[in-house]
Amino acid sequence: MANIVVLGAQWGDEGKAKITDLLAGSADFIIRYQGGCNAGHTVVANNTTYKFHLIPSGILYGNKICFIGTGTVIHPESFKAEIDELKSRGVNLSGLKISPLASVTMPYHIEIDGYSESHAGKGKIGTTKKGIGPTYTDKAARTGLKIQDLFDEETLSEKLDIILPLKNKTLSKVYGLDEYSKECITELCRKYAEIFKPYVCFEWQKLLEEHKDDKILFEGAQGVMLDIDWGTYPFVTSSNPIGGGAAVGSGFGPKTIDEVIGVAKAYVTRVGEGPFVTELKDSTGKEIQETGREFGVTTGRPRRCGWFDAVTMRYAVQVGGITQIALTKLDVFNKFPEIKICTAYKNTKTGEITKYYPTDVFTHKYYEPVYETMPGWMSNITDVKEFDELPENTKKYIERLEAILETPISIVSVGPDREQTIFKNP
Ligand code: GDP
Ligand code: IMO
Ligand code: MG
Repeated sequence: MANIVVLGAQWGDEGKAKITDLLAGSADFIIRYQGGCNAGHTVVANNTTYKFHLIPSGILYGNKICFIGTGTVIHPESFKAEIDELKSRGVNLSGLKISPLASVTMPYHIEIDGYSESHAGKGKIGTTKKGIGPTYTDKAARTGLKIQDLFDEETLSEKLDIILPLKNKTLSKVYGLDEYSKECITELCRKYAEIFKPYVCFEWQKLLEEHKDDKILFEGAQGVMLDIDWGTYPFVTSSNPIGGGAAVGSGFGPKTIDEVIGVAKAYVTRVGEGPFVTELKDSTGKEIQETGREFGVTTGRPRRCGWFDAVTMRYAVQVGGITQIALTKLDVFNKFPEIKICTAYKNTKTGEITKYYPTDVFTHKYYEPVYETMPGWMSNITDVKEFDELPENTKKYIERLEAILETPISIVSVGPDREQTIFKNP
């Protein structure tokens, strides 16, 4: 196995964790490079369903290093809850390590996220309310706390003297929220240090050096279309899920990466606000939602559903640096007589047809999808193990997508279980 990035190629929830877990079997070092507990990652293995938010899915193998990288944001209590849950299920956490340079989500970040969402009116993003945006805001504003800051009270005190006065003014005067005393924050930080102590890896430089020739798997969260720079801004998250984000958030350079596997569903889903051109608000959308059990892992919200959008996917391949695709949830179409692929957008104002993604989402209301219709396979493919054993129409659908996307589909997923996966030769 080469060094691989696994990332979401759509709006999240593509089944990344299933693919990461699968590939982690032949990796030595798994590193999560961005995002926080806004992610909800499901792995089904050994007849058990595991749900992860921050901890790399590779943890289930017990003998791998699972590193939560510098590009992530960590809410201490959520991290503790996730750890406690995994421990109670007998998962071996001895390989779990955290970068001391990862950012800490403080309680006020969550309060600001909640406030912003409830007061944003039409500007509502539909966030997970996990404090992700405000934590990254503080990081970029250079007023955030990193994990390493929790371990030295003297320097923490200096930092709080810089951070807190302005933060408190913002909390009370802008948001009408309660201020935090320095004593309260110091006490919280003591508690957080205790939570992180067994896992924080101050010797990370040595660790990365020792493992530089190992097989590394970079685990992304969210998806390219939620990327802060390249996604459907402003309806995005606040980090960089794209392939390039793996180098930024991990500490391994870009030349370490050999392949970027973009995970995409055979259709499209999205949670939260923001347009998507192939959204189906009719009974077909409902059918996809019900058959695919499209409800969020982190918030339980129903996911909006639509046909496969090759326009955004071609864009995701380009800006995400995707070299191969893992196509998931094909089994959801088992009973669909027809399947549509959006191959272009039509601008209803000008009549122009384009295969290039229009980057201003406020113009998306002018676009309608141009579809190509393919016959379904009308049979159950959940037990198929080899590509050649798939029904002809399933193979045709996959091959047509490869042709439109000009990218090989190397993994096909036909069910949630680790075993329900087909590796396809390019
Ligand atoms: P992630 O955030 O990208 O890791 O994906 P989620 O875990 O949020 O959502 C994907 C859902 O689809 C989970 O419930 C998975 O167990 C499930 N899943 C993954 N691959 C397949 C598949 O090929 N078929 C079906 N039916 N379900 C799948
Ligand atoms: P995984 O890793 C799907 C969405 C939210 C919202 C926007 C911003 O499971 O694929 P945030 O809380 O990050 O500020 O919310 O991003 N979002 C996700 N959607 N899957 C996710 O993660 C998501 N993480 C954030 O719904 O629209
Ligand atoms: Mg998810």
